[in-house]
Amino acid sequence: TAEAATATVRADTPGPTYDRRIFTQFAEHLGTGIYGGLWVGNDRRIPNTRGFRNDVVGALKELGVPVIRWPGGCFADEYHWREGIGPKNKRPVKINTHWGGVTEPNTVGTHEFMDLAEQIGAEAYVAGNVGNGTPQEMAEWVEYMTSPAGTLAEERARNGHKAPWKVPYFGVGNELWGCGGNMRPEYAADLTRRYATFIKAPEGTRILKIAAGANVDDYKWTETMIREAAGQIDALSLHYYTIPGSWPPRGSPTVFDEAGWAETLAGAWKMDELITKHTAIMDKYDPQKRIWLAVDEWGTWYAQDPGTHPGFLRQQNSLRDALVAAIHLNVFAKHADRVKMTAIAQMVNVLQAMILTDGPRMVKTPTYHVFKMYKPYMDAAVLPIEIKSPWYNKDQWTMPAISASAVRDKAGQVHVGLANADPNRSITVTATLTGVTAGTVSGQIVTAPAMNAINTFDAPNTVVPAAFTGAQVAGNTLTVTLPAKSVVMLDLR
Ligand code: AHR
Repeated sequence: TAEAATATVRADTPGPTYDRRIFTQFAEHLGTGIYGGLWVGNDRRIPNTRGFRNDVVGALKELGVPVIRWPGGCFADEYHWREGIGPKNKRPVKINTHWGGVTEPNTVGTHEFMDLAEQIGAEAYVAGNVGNGTPQEMAEWVEYMTSPAGTLAEERARNGHKAPWKVPYFGVGNELWGCGGNMRPEYAADLTRRYATFIKAPEGTRILKIAAGANVDDYKWTETMIREAAGQIDALSLHYYTIPGSWPPRGSPTVFDEAGWAETLAGAWKMDELITKHTAIMDKYDPQKRIWLAVDEWGTWYAQDPGTHPGFLRQQNSLRDALVAAIHLNVFAKHADRVKMTAIAQMVNVLQAMILTDGPRMVKTPTYHVFKMYKPYMDAAVLPIEIKSPWYNKDQWTMPAISASAVRDKAGQVHVGLANADPNRSITVTATLTGVTAGTVSGQIVTAPAMNAINTFDAPNTVVPAAFTGAQVAGNTLTVTLPAKSVVMLDLR
C-alpha cells in the first residue's frame, strides 16, 4: 500500500512569477563543455552551423534555454576578451590554468558566443574579469559588444558584426572569495562598487549587473556585499553544489547505494535552507526585493567519470540527478519573489549536464528531460502549495519524501511538479485545489527501475518521460500516486 501525503494548492492566491530565467544554463570554457560539446568548428563529420553542432543546438532550442552564462566560472576571472576576437588564426593560444592546464585556442570568443546564443534563441549573460583584469578592460568589452557607435563599434563591425548585441546581464567577476581573487568580502564589495560603476549601457538599453555572491552558507559574504554594494548592483549570486561526501568530490555519479542516493537528495534539499537564510539577510537591506538572488551555479558535483581528465569535470547523469533537478526547481518556486535567475552547472559535458557528447554522438541526460517537463513553468504564476509529506530517512539522511510546486501559466492552465525521493515506496498525495476546478488531469513521469539508471549513447532512452496515468481529479480534489523515485509533471484542464 502507498504511503499518504496531503496538500493544498492555492490557485486563488497566485504568487510571484516563476521567472523563465530560472532555467538559465552555464557554459564555461572547461573540459569539453565548449570545444567538442558545442563547438566543432570545421569538423565535417558533425553537422554544424558556423561551427556549432546542430544536434546539440537543436536539443537546447527544444528546452527554450532563456539565457546562457559565459565564459565562466573561474575561467572568467582570467579571460581577456581581446584574445577572442579578430581572425581565428591570429588569436593567442593560452593555458586554461583552472581546468586541466590544457590549451585554450580562443576559437570561441565573443562573436562566436553571441552566435551560439542567437542560434539557441537565448539571451547573453557575460561574466567579466575582476580577478586579473582592469575596470577599463571590462568597460571596453561592454562597449565593444553593445555600443552603436565609436571606435570599438567600428572594430566590431570590421570583425563581422555591425549591429550592437544586447547584453542584458553582466557578471561583476565570479567567486571573488576563491578562484576570482581570494578576496575578503569587504574588499570584494569595494571592488564590485568600482568595477560596476564602469559597466555602462548605451542610451535606451539596460545591463543588469550581477555581483559575485556567496559560497554555500557564507552569510557574512552576502551581508557585506548587500550592505556595501547594493547601490551598484541588480543581483547577487549564490553558488551551491550538491556534493555527496566532502570536498573534493569523490562520490561516483553512477555507483552508489541507497545512502548515496539519500545523501545527495538531502544535499539538494539544502538549497531551501540556504536561500531562506541568504534572502533573510537581503530582506534587511533591500526590503523592496529590487535585488535578485541569482543562484547562478547549482547542481551535482561528483568524481569525474573513469578514464576522463580530472580537470574536465565530466560526469554521468542518472535518475538521481533527475530528482536533484526537480527538487531544485520546486525549491526555486517557493522563493520566486527573490530568486529571478538560476543557472544549472553546466550545459554540455560538464557536471550536471543537460547533454553529453562523444565525438559525433549525443545523448540527452535525465536532467535534460526534467527541464523539458518543467518548461510550462516559464513565466507562469507560482501557486502557493502547502504539503504534509511523510519523511524519507536513510541512515543520517532525512527529508520530506515529497517535494512539490505548482504554477498557473498565462493560458490559465495549472501545472503541478512533484518528486518522490523515497526509492522504496510509492506515495499517494491527496491535494485540495482552491480556486480551480479541473475536469481532467494528464501528466508525464520520469522514473526507472534502478536508482542509478542512465542514458548512454547506445541506450539513450532508459530514463525518459513517459505518459503518467496515476492521477485523478474530481471537483477540487486531485489524487496522485507517485511511484518510488519518480518525477511527475501534471497538467490540469
Ligand atoms: O562550475 C565549475 C566551477 O565551479 C566554476 O568555474 C566555479 O565558479 C565554481 O567553483
